[in-house]
Amino acid sequence: MAIHDSVLELIGGTPIVRLRNFTVHNGGQVLVKVESANPGRSIKDRAAHFMIEQAESSGRLRPGDTIVESTSGNLGKSLALIGAAKGYRVILVVDPKTPVSVLRYAKALGAEIELVDTPDESGGYQRQRLERVRQLRAGDPRVFWPDQYRNPDNPRIHAEHTAGEVLSDLPAFDALVASVSTGGHISGLSRMLKGKLPGLTTIAVDAAGSAAFGFPFRGYAMRGLGLAWKPGNLDLSVVDRVHLVDDHEGIATSRALARREGVLVGESAGAAVFAALHHAHHNPGSRILAVAADDGANYLGESFDDDWLRERGLAAVLDDAALREPDRLVELARCPAHPAVPVESLRAEEDRDDGLNHAA
Ligand SMILES: Cc1ncc(COP(=O)(O)O)c(C=O)c1O
Repeated sequence: MAIHDSVLELIGGTPIVRLRNFTVHNGGQVLVKVESANPGRSIKDRAAHFMIEQAESSGRLRPGDTIVESTSGNLGKSLALIGAAKGYRVILVVDPKTPVSVLRYAKALGAEIELVDTPDESGGYQRQRLERVRQLRAGDPRVFWPDQYRNPDNPRIHAEHTAGEVLSDLPAFDALVASVSTGGHISGLSRMLKGKLPGLTTIAVDAAGSAAFGFPFRGYAMRGLGLAWKPGNLDLSVVDRVHLVDDHEGIATSRALARREGVLVGESAGAAVFAALHHAHHNPGSRILAVAADDGANYLGESFDDDWLRERGLAAVLDDAALREPDRLVELARCPAHPAVPVESLRAEEDRDDGLNHAA
């Protein structure tokens, strides 16, 4: 279809690009699904659009209502886009880690921004953001909260749609690598893809310092991935291995992808590609699909900016000039800071609740 009735019809159909300059020399290859090709420039367009349409069809969201959500950035961009296209007021609860370009994008599309600038006792902002959402919703039936951390429509769209899109471009591959925050895209994708490709290995990528897999939260610089608690939408039964990526590993990879492949993607995408390279080293000949969740343009004033990195002490990224080269990064990925571990080795702790009352 050449002429579309809405920008929302452009969601999905993102390309897969083979990396040519990140070579493991054992027959393995890393392919990248470039989700920045969505109109809101990230994979979050898919979940946001589906959560909104499901809420509309079930009567939870009606014309004239307000959409409120806690977001580190990309879901907010998507909701701002959808709000503009469909005519909803959108309020986004963000924190100081939200990149300036993300805020400008959301504001340009008419969203209102609520900044939470007091961290909780763990040093993160996500709990405080959710508390602010709760206050904004309190007693107002015309406010809709998508609740991306627990809404089953978040993983569902990836199982019902994104997975089929992957298979139509790539009917056979060996490993899926995806970064985690709500757990939405890895859980939905892996559930469906494992059903179709029984030998598939799924590797979850988290930031070292995140608590999404039960490790103590200690913070990290990368944006987009990671969480201060275990997300309800993360289905560990479809994850085989977990790779915790350090800031310098993920950021160096995203910068090298931009300079050496012309693929300008975000920090979580850099982390996913780094983890994919690690897997490639240890699984000769495998075809690995890494999901690049968002656009590097989100971080031009942050991790793509040398001064910003220097101020944050991410010296390895800048000072070790060798890390600028794909070959050195590929070598680093052989023995990364935290090699991937089987998911069974993690502490089995069933309580995935973030402690906030869903119905409150
Ligand atoms: C840049 C980026 N990477 C990765 C993720 C993780 O995706 P999910 O919430 O589906 O786990 C997000 C989610 O916000 C993101 O914005």
